[in-house]
Amino acid sequence: MKILGILASHKEHGLNAQMLQHVLDNVDEGVETETIYLENYDITPRKYPEENPVLDQLADKLMESDVWVFGAPTYWRECPGRLKDFFDCMRPKFVYFKDNGDTIPGPFKDKHYLSLSSCYMSTTENFLTGITDETFKTIDRVMAAAGVIKIGEIVLPNTFGMKEIPEKKVKLCAKYGHKISKKVEKDDSTMKRYIQLFFMIAIMALVTMGIQVPLKAIMPMDNFWISYVSFVIIFFVLLALILHFVTFMKHRRR
Ligand SMILES: Cc1cc2nc3c(=O)[nH]c(=O)nc-3n(C[C@H](O)[C@H](O)[C@H](O)COP(=O)(O)O)c2cc1C
Repeated sequence: MKILGILASHKEHGLNAQMLQHVLDNVDEGVETETIYLENYDITPRKYPEENPVLDQLADKLMESDVWVFGAPTYWRECPGRLKDFFDCMRPKFVYFKDNGDTIPGPFKDKHYLSLSSCYMSTTENFLTGITDETFKTIDRVMAAAGVIKIGEIVLPNTFGMKEIPEKKVKLCAKYGHKISKKVEKDDSTMKRYIQLFFMIAIMALVTMGIQVPLKAIMPMDNFWISYVSFVIIFFVLLALILHFVTFMKHRRR
């Protein structure tokens, strides 16, 4: 079992480097770790038919690791350019191409990843406006295309003037260090998602029917089609609200 840290910060010993180190320092006994600092690599796209040994070397490191941990500070509300460049140049290694140009997960399918990010903005501002969201979303998009499974994410807001990681985050990093040490072959959250979906539908149907009850005073709810159409509309509005909420809350912002 091996865990690879991938640091994409301008600072080799900055806060993301520290978070990454806290995660890697807490992996279980026997788990091997390595960190690569992307600044140390001359990452350029492969110009066919020429070879690109740097990309080959990076791909080998990815292949020999079971879990990747991305340390990626938020720059301009986005993923740092160095990481984006790494993703862009690695695209032909991350995915296979179909005849029509569509992509399917490549050789790294079913590996796992954890994302770390940080920003100057305060916890409240990040919670409300999601400064770090795009950083996580970019990583998620690329990993989803490559078939790499997400374990979690850690966000560190309020970093202006910060020199050391607060104790709370150090503990969280340590927790994830243990978590990522357990080898999971496949995405094991399918059952959990079905259970969540079941309860979501059950609660929404209950709320919808609850809203329909007082509507009897103003609408002929005994009519099957009126009852059906009102159910569909109320259910749809609730579903849209819940999906918006789930998407909004999807990323950790505190
Ligand atoms: C080029 C650049 C752009 C940045 N853009 C933002 C930003 O849009 N919002 C923000 O809150 N912080 C921004 N920051 C602050 C970084 O997120 C902050 O420096 C980071 O927490 C430090 O991580 P590090 O110590 O690993 O480098 C930016 C920093 C740099 C260097």
